[in-house]
Amino acid sequence: MTKDKIEKLISQLTLQEKIGMIHGDGFFTTKGVERLGIPPFKTSDGPRGVRKDFENDAWKDIGLSYDYASYLPCNSALAATWNRAIAHETGKVLGREARGRGKDMILAPGINIMRTPLCGRSFEYMGEDPYLVSEMVVPLVQGIEENDVSACVKHFAVNNQETRRLDVDVEVSERALREIYLPGFEAAVRRGKAKGIMGAYNKLRGTHCCHHDYLLNEILRKEWGFEGITVSDWGGVHDTKEALMNGLDMEMSVTSDFDAYYMAEPLVKMIENGEVDNKTALAKIDEKVRHILNVMNELHMLDGERSAGSYNDYNDKAALRQAARESIVLLKNDANILPLDRKKIKKLLVVGENANRQHAPGGGSAEIKALYEITPLLGIQMLLGGNTEVVYKPGYYNEDIGNIWANTGDSENGQADSLNQDSKEAQESQKTAQEKKRQRQKEMNEKYLQEALEAAKDADAVIFVGGLTHDYDTEGQDRADMRLPYDQDRLILELLRVRPDTIVTLVAGSPVDMSMWLDEVKSLVFGWYAGMEGGIALAEVLFGDFNPSGRLPETFPVNGKDCPAVVLGEFPGGDKVSYGEDIFVGYRYYDTYDAATAFPFGYGLSYTDFVMTGIRAEVIEDTEESKSVKVSFDISNIGNRGGATVAQIYVADKRPRVKKAAKELKAFEKIYLEAGETKEVTLMLEREAFTYYDETAHCFRVDAGSYMLLLAKNAEEIVDVTEIEFAV
Ligand code: BGC
Repeated sequence: MTKDKIEKLISQLTLQEKIGMIHGDGFFTTKGVERLGIPPFKTSDGPRGVRKDFENDAWKDIGLSYDYASYLPCNSALAATWNRAIAHETGKVLGREARGRGKDMILAPGINIMRTPLCGRSFEYMGEDPYLVSEMVVPLVQGIEENDVSACVKHFAVNNQETRRLDVDVEVSERALREIYLPGFEAAVRRGKAKGIMGAYNKLRGTHCCHHDYLLNEILRKEWGFEGITVSDWGGVHDTKEALMNGLDMEMSVTSDFDAYYMAEPLVKMIENGEVDNKTALAKIDEKVRHILNVMNELHMLDGERSAGSYNDYNDKAALRQAARESIVLLKNDANILPLDRKKIKKLLVVGENANRQHAPGGGSAEIKALYEITPLLGIQMLLGGNTEVVYKPGYYNEDIGNIWANTGDSENGQADSLNQDSKEAQESQKTAQEKKRQRQKEMNEKYLQEALEAAKDADAVIFVGGLTHDYDTEGQDRADMRLPYDQDRLILELLRVRPDTIVTLVAGSPVDMSMWLDEVKSLVFGWYAGMEGGIALAEVLFGDFNPSGRLPETFPVNGKDCPAVVLGEFPGGDKVSYGEDIFVGYRYYDTYDAATAFPFGYGLSYTDFVMTGIRAEVIEDTEESKSVKVSFDISNIGNRGGATVAQIYVADKRPRVKKAAKELKAFEKIYLEAGETKEVTLMLEREAFTYYDETAHCFRVDAGSYMLLLAKNAEEIVDVTEIEFAV
């Protein structure tokens, strides 16, 4: 449909019809205009697949037998693959399933920067580095939107904690905003061409992000040229006039009084009462409708042939399994206990409740009604083929004590209740419930511990699978610390005492404190909520059918107190949180201030060894507007099995004019090499790789001078260095 036709359509719409299009008429849909062939706009969560369907006006699971869907790796897992092609493939599955389920917009991906590992929604995001996030989000969004479905990149912006997420007011320097918190969104919009952006619940500098003139009108639309739809987070709108004027297109919420939404009857009344200039108001409403119709048009919802989707397609499972495999991070393998040789193991003991737990149904709006989920225990059994006796002991007891979504209120779903998290009653009822459960937990834990230790004695190998659950990695609540719940530290220590070769495997969506036993453990694997194929992928890594190649998308601090936001007392904060650490988030802090980490950003091992050498660089272009540098190096697999590694290039300004991080990631490539193979790799660095945000000039700039290019295995392991010089 041409632009003219869209304008004609707008001119035919009544005010009421337009209003119907710009606010929710159900929890996940707006009103259509049947007489003009405009369908309702249907959205669905979310980041790990297409969520189950709810009743239109109640948070009740309809209980359909046909809304089971694929459960995809969470975003921190996806980021850990450091593989753009995997992000693209995963996006394609997500988009295809959304279309297959009849949705127009999938409320994904979430890409807020992991300012601290304690943020409850870290598992929904892509780690701590704006460059890694940008590189991964672009192919992900493109993959989704190849299916005539809109992505909805969320939550714009600085939504970096769950504590008081609805009203916390973030104070952040313009430089940190531009360098750390916005680049992922900018990449998704400019390069990924995302058609949807979701505003954040929180405030930025005093104004709620869902109707924030500077974020939505100035930056998103004017600077980045965004032409898609801005959607509020559910219940994120607080003011009719601001919503009208400040760039919001579609208001969604969690209550069923749809006509009372700020952009529904209150907006009509405001116009009728003359509280806003009539002409301006109507023009603003037209603008919102125009954005919506433009996207509908691009998705072929108005005319033309819309592509058909599919869900639970057998052929997609291979892509999801590969994504899960590539996300798994081998953190330690000191005595080369891994991979295990299945022929030598007659009796295998698997310990840990996470071995047997399905994570798809939890986490908040990222929950998935999975068609299936292969747990690690199932995956191990599937892989071993019946020739090994697998003994399972839970080892610790988990009674779901922490989750606000499970424990507040008495409605059928935590979604609406989760917005009530600060009410006294909610907190009290949660406390009482938790106390009871803690008591039971203690008793059961002791019993389970003894059973596991006993079984460990005569097993040929012991695999522990613990970590977190969605009682901790969850929407609506941050973690109080990074400790493993359910007394797992004690269990791990005791297991290591009986069996020093115990393999520790952690399934979680964000970093945990391992300091109690890290020196003792010889083999350590970090899996994630890696989707429906996660358990088999983990088994393949443990038994060497797949050579691990995941890298951490975030620093693993020694403990939660080491994180800069916490050091400064600016997490979780009160009414206001001031991002005093500025640009020194994640490795930018640990690196620059020489703070110890448990595992650095970008870290991960393999069953083979790689050597990277001979970094050389050539300045191809050096003008004020444009820079281009060609970087090459050689990489060899010197071990005896094929595998992939991630070459990382960091840039360090030798004599910075403003305070900068010691180094910043500016290029990476995942490279697969057969045993004994060598390759020459060439990567290009453009102007963005050398810029910083100049707060006085209000723009990104590059200073003339020398820059070091560091070839690295991770943020703490530089293997080769070269230098370049910019004249201007
Ligand atoms: C979450 C969003 C989600 C929305 C709809 C909100 O609570 O913050 O990420 O997409 O609900 O379920």
